[in-house]
Amino acid sequence: MKKTVQKITRGLKGEITTPSDKSISHRAVILASLAKGKSIIKNFSKGQDPLSTLQICKNLGVDIELQNDLIINSTGKFASPNTNLDCGNSGTTMRFMAGVLAGQNFNSTLIGDESLSKRPMKRVIEPLKLMGANIISNNFQAPLNIAGKSLHCIDYVSKLASAQVKSCILLAGLNCDGKTKFTEPYISRDHTERMLKFMEADISTNNTTTTIQKSELKPQTIEICGDISSAAYFIVAGLIIPNSEIIIKNVGLNPTRTGIFEVVKKMGGNIEILDFRNISGEEVGDIKISYSQLKACTIEGEIIPKLIDELPVIAVLATQAEGTTIIKDAQDLRNKESDRIKAVVTELKKLGADIEETQDGFIINGKYDLQGGCEVETYHDHRLAMSLYVAGLICRHPVCINGFEWVNISFPEFESLFSTL
Ligand code: S3P
Repeated sequence: MKKTVQKITRGLKGEITTPSDKSISHRAVILASLAKGKSIIKNFSKGQDPLSTLQICKNLGVDIELQNDLIINSTGKFASPNTNLDCGNSGTTMRFMAGVLAGQNFNSTLIGDESLSKRPMKRVIEPLKLMGANIISNNFQAPLNIAGKSLHCIDYVSKLASAQVKSCILLAGLNCDGKTKFTEPYISRDHTERMLKFMEADISTNNTTTTIQKSELKPQTIEICGDISSAAYFIVAGLIIPNSEIIIKNVGLNPTRTGIFEVVKKMGGNIEILDFRNISGEEVGDIKISYSQLKACTIEGEIIPKLIDELPVIAVLATQAEGTTIIKDAQDLRNKESDRIKAVVTELKKLGADIEETQDGFIINGKYDLQGGCEVETYHDHRLAMSLYVAGLICRHPVCINGFEWVNISFPEFESLFSTL
């Protein structure tokens, strides 16, 4: 689907409520499926990725009803599926389910779409094999044929700060005798650890090491907060479109996800938290942002996992900051739904940005008047589609985005929410 975006001449003004967090939605449906009894999940994401995880849990025999809320009645066990388990476009689904399925007493096959079938799975296959897992893959890519068997615990030191890898191993460890330990170089998002604790698992974290023991999860009512990664498009739009002032309600503010706040503050942007609360073990707030004069900054090191999904739209932000913004240590961006370093550079250059690709990030010179007046590509990547839409709002001439339907992967409400401002 093609979408044409025009420059906004007035500011964006108003109030929106951020839709449900995709990362937390995946975890909620998997963990509630593993908890014996009735769980209720409020505000489950309508994105295609969490719906892939939901469908897989159903294919594994869990009784799940999708009304306004998700109502999950589980025996606490998965049953052998009679079909391949389709993760669609979702790397989170495939990596999490590999950890859950490797230790079951049945065989299963995880498949994905064309883009997911090219993404690296060695990062989860390798540690799972150390736990005794039997997984046959296509040269460390999907499909993953998993011969379920009982696993043993490990003490694993990961080279990557990846919440997907960490969660995979913690989910496998949940079903193993002994202590499974996972250490990462920097802290990555910790929603899995928080939700496991909320459901009374035996889990603890010390610095960057998390330890889990075999546990029975207690069913719960889980309310899912809004997704800061979705709010990021509104944050950036509000900061770069003159005369804007937006209130974004119900934004998840887990400190392992708020790297974009630190960057906006470093750039001199006007951003304010209005109300701070806790929902189902996660920090949440309402935030206010307004148009700002921005200055460039360097983004590197341990902040990277805290804003990894926001980097494409932060690149758009940097085109409007005075000076040279350098983004480093983000080489894993090349392994996302697309090679996000190459894709962002190629497409923002078409719009007139001064941006250069490096092996592990970008160098962006600002402030540049983006011209637009061209077609851009989304590479089957929802975050590219939404970042280019935001860039299109400040381009002098209309921008036609090819493949805009990919926004549905995480944020089907994206355009309708923009039109309310
Ligand atoms: C996610 C973790 C991140 C992120 C992805 C969702 C999660 O991936 O990019 O969109 O829900 O755990 P990595 O942990 O592999 O960096």
